Amino acid sequence: NNMMEEFIGPEEGFSRRQIASLDSQIRLAHHNMREKRKKGGMDWRELPFNQDDLIEAINKTAEDIRGRYEAFVVLGIGGSALGPLAVQTALNHLHYNELQAEKRVGPRFYVVDNVDPERMQALFDIIDLQKTVFNVISKSGSTSETMSQFMIVSKMLKEKLGSDYAKNIIATTDQAKGNLIRLAKEEGYTTFIIPEGVGGRFSELSPVGLLPAAVCGIDIKELLAGAAFMDKICDQEEVFQNPAYILAVLQYLAMKNGKNISVMMPYADSLKFFADWYAQLWAESLGKRMDLSNNEVYTGQTPVKALGTTDQHSQVQLYTEGPFDKVVTFLGVGKYRISMEIPKIFLDIPAVAFLGGHTMEELITAEQLATEYALMKAQRLNCTITLPEVNAFTIGQLIQLLEIKTAFAGELLNINAFDQPGVEEGKNATYALLGRPGYEDKKEELDSRPAK
Ligand code: PA5
Repeated sequence: NNMMEEFIGPEEGFSRRQIASLDSQIRLAHHNMREKRKKGGMDWRELPFNQDDLIEAINKTAEDIRGRYEAFVVLGIGGSALGPLAVQTALNHLHYNELQAEKRVGPRFYVVDNVDPERMQALFDIIDLQKTVFNVISKSGSTSETMSQFMIVSKMLKEKLGSDYAKNIIATTDQAKGNLIRLAKEEGYTTFIIPEGVGGRFSELSPVGLLPAAVCGIDIKELLAGAAFMDKICDQEEVFQNPAYILAVLQYLAMKNGKNISVMMPYADSLKFFADWYAQLWAESLGKRMDLSNNEVYTGQTPVKALGTTDQHSQVQLYTEGPFDKVVTFLGVGKYRISMEIPKIFLDIPAVAFLGGHTMEELITAEQLATEYALMKAQRLNCTITLPEVNAFTIGQLIQLLEIKTAFAGELLNINAFDQPGVEEGKNATYALLGRPGYEDKKEELDSRPAK
């Protein structure tokens, strides 16, 4: 790959020797991963292995929803929204919601991950409340965005459906923490539990992602089988045998070399929202400040989402000739699910006619190679992850791969990849601004800030 010196030269590229010199750090990181896993600190890694009973329950609920409802709406944000969106877009028709009902496996699918009133109203304008299931997802059960969406929806449902309203709500939350579980019990919603040691951005393979996927007809057993398969490969200590570790090590070396920007660029529209999901995973997990005896250390890379070939015509100029501060990860596809031939016409215009007879997938693959080549020639770090095909198994693999990569990078950086104090600060400030009891001190702190 184009992270190595034999491809992009010794100035920017890395050598096997350099990787080998990190041996003790890599072994320690591997040991720490193992220990954390044993102690339950990485329960997300067990999700492909320990949910057999749950899969049955989820599939049953999904089947029931498919038979009775026209729309399925996820109310959530961050780790409680990006995974469901990424998986649904990857594995279903790209215009899934616009398909006629009989051509769709499940109800129309929406993810509302904002509190923009215009967006909320726009949703209400196109759904029939009675025929809609709202899956409110919140691990903490207290996030302002999700809870406010939920309050609006609850009131509307109650007004429309009376005491029957709880049937149109499914809660996915922690089994004890927060208010959502309390409401779910009191009001009698169908409820799925996010296991204790599974944080938001690592929760896609828990009921957070499995229920929405199953509702839209995605084979969740296959998704988990792919993740389990990848997990085994990524459990090996030997860095050159472990794809998650080698990816993390190369990014780590890049970070140490001042590459502060990490671009993910899928060459498939189906994977576009994967770059969104990954942006959160990478940014929120690794962007950390550490206090080390009078010395503050800041870690992380700024994620950038791009799409091939679309962004070749907007961002790639910067990637090839701008500052040497980026690493690009391409997501390629071995075999596209559709083949489409470009017709042999306009034969009298050779500069266009040459395209005729090729397929669109040949063109997009050639463009990907060409972009990789252009970056390589300009000595810009880049690597490629190729999915043989986009299907439930490979998507499960990709999720587990990138989650392990992120956790391992956290170990190499010696930071906690599983907390998000910077996000919590913003959440607490919102609570304070809007008058949540218990946040009076935070409100005072906010009020004493300099006026704009
Ligand atoms: O990764 C995370 O922990 C966050 O992005 C959360 O998913 C996000 O803040 C939403 O939190 P919750 O699921 O508690 O509503």
